[in-house]
Amino acid sequence: MKTNKKKKLSGCKDKGSSGRKKLSGCKRAGKTSANFSPRSADMTPKTFFIKTFGCQMNVRDSELIAGNLLSKGYKIVDSPEEADVLLFNTCSVRQHAEDKTWSEIGRYKSRPRSTVHGPLIIGLVGCMAEYHKYGAFKKSEYIDFVCGPNNIAAIPFLIEAAKKTDNKGMAVGQRQRDEFIYNTNFQNTADKSFIVITEGCNNFCSYCVVPLVRGIERSRHHEDILKEIKDLVSKGIKEITLLGQNVNSYISPQSTVHSPQSKVTFIELLKMVNEVEGLESFTFMTSHPKDASTELFKAMARLDKCAKYLHLPIQSGSDRILKLMNRKYTAKEFLNNIDEYKKIVNAKLSTDIIVGFPTESKKDFLATKKLLEMVKFDNAYIFKYSVRAHTQAATLKDDVSLKEKQRRHKILLDLQRKNSKIKK
Ligand code: 5AD
Ligand code: SF4
Repeated sequence: MKTNKKKKLSGCKDKGSSGRKKLSGCKRAGKTSANFSPRSADMTPKTFFIKTFGCQMNVRDSELIAGNLLSKGYKIVDSPEEADVLLFNTCSVRQHAEDKTWSEIGRYKSRPRSTVHGPLIIGLVGCMAEYHKYGAFKKSEYIDFVCGPNNIAAIPFLIEAAKKTDNKGMAVGQRQRDEFIYNTNFQNTADKSFIVITEGCNNFCSYCVVPLVRGIERSRHHEDILKEIKDLVSKGIKEITLLGQNVNSYISPQSTVHSPQSKVTFIELLKMVNEVEGLESFTFMTSHPKDASTELFKAMARLDKCAKYLHLPIQSGSDRILKLMNRKYTAKEFLNNIDEYKKIVNAKLSTDIIVGFPTESKKDFLATKKLLEMVKFDNAYIFKYSVRAHTQAATLKDDVSLKEKQRRHKILLDLQRKNSKIKK
């Protein structure tokens, strides 16, 4: 199938909806809803538009969803106004991201609920779908179905079901994706692409919802990954980014501790990717400081196609807070790691920081500030702590006031702006 490179997957600017649907017919985890009662239109929705929120993983997931729908005869359109099916691929990492999505969906209040191909269908997809499950229908009556990140292969069925019934659809709780979903034949850009190498996360950082919504960590088979890369290169892709919540813990499913000879670890995978003919460069994200090793830095330095850039989230400079975050390293260990990286690779470095984690005192905050002054990252993404229900940190009192979080956030942002200027 030809690669469709031009159509956008985001940029929703619509106003509102009407029409209430019943909440009956939702399914158990891992199952797809299909309670068929006649609905007004009998024509298949033909066009779709995906609005993507959140991280690179979601950007790639939207491409996978689009590729699958295109292969089933749907047409992608450039604006939500032209779409028969509107999909919101969502992020639940912070409350702010969720609020933006709910307000975007709320814009559909006054939009006519019918299109030339029948009723407008709205799907909530990705992390928010998995996080809220059935509860999403209570939050927004405009949603026809919810679909978790590991269930995205079910989207065509959910659309078909929504077309035929007034009942709501739900597909959540699948542990692993079907490999076929990665054969998308669809990229948003002509020369670069993201490649998912691991799904889910086993780290359970205490503040983070990702292991709850994306499930435990699974690595894709290295041969499947290499095949996907080669296919993309044959279509003109020159640069790739290998994606995972913790890429360093990648291990190909054929590799076990009992057969170390055939072990394909992350470093082995990087070597294989480096050999792909026609590929010009690659990078990867995200690395966890507890797993980013000297061996990794040596491989980065040695492999000629590996972009010399590392994203290594520190989250806090205070050992007490790092422990509460369940990060499994100390600030000193992180700094030693950075020294190694600088010695061996001597290249760009970025990080993530959370301010206002429960019990973060002025002293804890100053330790983070000091670390930022010392390391001088090329880039730092700074976030205000946001309580996520069902995480371990949610059992702690969110006791740093919003005002204080904003103050600490601004101090670090200003400092980082200065650092970024120095590094340019
Ligand atoms: N509150 C604030 N920031 C968070 N992150 C993850 N969970 C939360 C949360 N509950 C940040 C971390 C992570 C980045 C992707 O998002 O810094 O590295
Ligand atoms: Fe969340 Fe920690 Fe996993 Fe990153 S490593 S996705 S912050 S649990």
